Amino acid sequence: MDIKKVVVIGSGTMGSGIAAHLCNANVPVTLLDLTTEISEKARDRIHKSRPPLLLDKTKIENIKVGNINDNFDVVKEADWVVEAVVERIDIKHNIYEKIFKNRKQGAIVSSNTSSIPIKVLSEKLTEEEKKDFCITHFFNPVRYMGLLEIVKNENNDLNKINSLKKFCEIELGKGAIVCNDTPGFLGNRIGVYAMQVAMTEAFRMKLSIEEADAVFGRPMGIPKTGVFGLYDLIGIDLMADVLKSFIKELSENDEFQIVAKEIPLVKKLIDTGYTGRKGKGGFYRMNKSGNQKILEAINLETGEYTTSKKVDLGVETVNINNLINRKDKYGEYAWEVISKIIKYASSLVPGITDKFNDIDEAMRLGFNWAMGPFEMLKSIGVENFFSRIDNFENNKFLENLSKSKDENFYGERQLYTDIETLGKIRPSAIKVDKNNSAEIHRFKDFNIVEFTTKACALDYDSMDALKNATDKPLIVMNESMQFSAGVNLSYTMNFADKGDFKSIEKFIKYFQDTCKTLKYSKHPVVSAPSGLTLGGGFEVLVQSNFVASHTNIVVGLVETIVGLVPAGGGCKEMLWRWSQTDEAKSDPDYAPLKVFDIIGYAKTATSPVEAEPLKYLKPEDKKIMNRNSLFEEARKLIHQNNDFVPPEECKFNLSGKPLKEKMIKVLDKLYNEKIILDHGMHVGTELANVLSGGDTNLDKTLSEDDLYKLELDSFMRLIETKQTQDRIKHTLSTGKPLVN
Ligand code: NAI
Repeated sequence: MDIKKVVVIGSGTMGSGIAAHLCNANVPVTLLDLTTEISEKARDRIHKSRPPLLLDKTKIENIKVGNINDNFDVVKEADWVVEAVVERIDIKHNIYEKIFKNRKQGAIVSSNTSSIPIKVLSEKLTEEEKKDFCITHFFNPVRYMGLLEIVKNENNDLNKINSLKKFCEIELGKGAIVCNDTPGFLGNRIGVYAMQVAMTEAFRMKLSIEEADAVFGRPMGIPKTGVFGLYDLIGIDLMADVLKSFIKELSENDEFQIVAKEIPLVKKLIDTGYTGRKGKGGFYRMNKSGNQKILEAINLETGEYTTSKKVDLGVETVNINNLINRKDKYGEYAWEVISKIIKYASSLVPGITDKFNDIDEAMRLGFNWAMGPFEMLKSIGVENFFSRIDNFENNKFLENLSKSKDENFYGERQLYTDIETLGKIRPSAIKVDKNNSAEIHRFKDFNIVEFTTKACALDYDSMDALKNATDKPLIVMNESMQFSAGVNLSYTMNFADKGDFKSIEKFIKYFQDTCKTLKYSKHPVVSAPSGLTLGGGFEVLVQSNFVASHTNIVVGLVETIVGLVPAGGGCKEMLWRWSQTDEAKSDPDYAPLKVFDIIGYAKTATSPVEAEPLKYLKPEDKKIMNRNSLFEEARKLIHQNNDFVPPEECKFNLSGKPLKEKMIKVLDKLYNEKIILDHGMHVGTELANVLSGGDTNLDKTLSEDDLYKLELDSFMRLIETKQTQDRIKHTLSTGKPLVN
């Protein structure tokens, strides 16, 4: 079955997200709603969305819009019709009647419902119609969330479901998991339960919301929004509706019922308009007094707001065992929450799926957890877990495990896909080395380096791992959210605070050395990024020999924002790339001026389509929709390059002083228009110094080392200034830029 044309009905949050993502896959799609005006507005929203739902905004017109009365004929042409209208069964039934009257023979019809069982959705369909009907449950935002749950009915044509799954995997890049027809399917059943446990335990143990979020967050491998922050993000009222639906659908003795009970404070928040970020605030709120914005947090006992106090557990990497063994209330809270999640998830096997691993993967793909409940159990250790757990009656999974005591119960990961992923091969790879910031694995005839720090920020240890791993062909990739957000700025600031600039210089030199080793290693080096690939992270990528990039990357050189210039070869490589253009052949200043503009403005690209015109990526770099396929693609690149020869060194002829003056003219204009301030001028001038080649002229040829030296000197001059240090501190504490 070929899916060549798709119609999406309902152009709200989900319908528009699905249409945008089909457009990303170059599949012709029409978005229908009650009126064309509504679907046109949806298209505007897609166009303006941040983070962008489209890989390429210029393709917006490829999403056709219309209404269900005048334009329903498009359904006759569609190979797949996705229903994403409001969650009301009467409306959905009416739409199905109309779709099945009009659809092309054999076309697939699916619903994006998050809670209505397929039994109910399909109750009015004929046996023949049921063959082609299923649930395709996408997660919001569709482009970015990896999970797609597919729910079958007993009449389905299984070949068709399989080809839909393949299409969604390969063309749309989704982790498509087929699951049973049970309330909330996999992701929401466990995800919402986990949130409720985290919330009710915080009330019971009298934790502040900041304390609960500090535990039920990064230390557990869960996004930093935690539980209360996530509640505010989703909408407290929406969560209440979700809970009502679970209460109605689940049996009375389901453990979910205990944690889904209405909490008086939550009801009060909703009743008074505190529905979360979209409302007046929620568990957290921003209090504006004068020019200042102060983040406040609610007291769960009194309902009063006070200034939010950041709680830092001092945990840098996920270690479930360390967390639950802490001898403080955080350790106790972590154990209570984690053990209940493990108990609940395991009690649902095989009811919601016969593969427990699917639950873990659904939590990774749909909730961005670093590990699911069963992996948490694995890392706690079977014996250890059973020595602490009280009762687990009627839980077949735990009963069996308590008897077998099999510490190796877990088996393979990512059973839902045939793709050979990093997650699947890791257990059979040899762990060659591990330090505080990275791991090296040897798989067959090549190495894999995974960064392991927060946001995969880079430091000495990351560099060590990269350097040491070049004794074989190398793939740099990981399974976390970011490829690398750049050099670890806190680490750099620790030296700066002590006035120890020599150590910073030594580190930057080591970084440069490492990048040189990557580029000129006798074996090929492949970077396979997903997520943030910024600053130093980009410098690793740009000095790799090959790239296989996920379509969801945010890539760029952003150093100027924190008052620095790229010093790991970023200026050098961008200069080289731009100097290979036709324009640069006739104008020696063309490339440096272009790069001055790109790095000066710290331009970032939010997809490969945006990255190529900036030359952050090259046309030959692989661009891949399904993140799971990055490993296979990277591996292919290594094997296609058995006869790899390292690149030749780049040479540069730059104009020097007159070019620098041209750049300073650009800066003067920005300064006069107050777009940049004093330090902006200073940073720009240092960047101009690097990109013009410093004290040189067109007759002199500069080597890569000359460029590295210019980068390093400018970097050092800048890091020594108070203004750059102010910028770094501000960005580290607020996540925002400081303009000074
Ligand atoms: P929404 O409220 O944002 O959009 C629903 C759209 O359906 C509106 O544009 C409305 O005008 C349109 N509509 C209503 N009746 C219609 C009809 N008879 N014909 C055509 N269009 C009609 O809703 P949202 O959030 O996009 O949800 C859609 C579906 O996706 C629901 O079934 C929901 O449960 C499910 N879902 C929602 C998620 C979310 O995060 N919002 C996540 C996953 C699933």
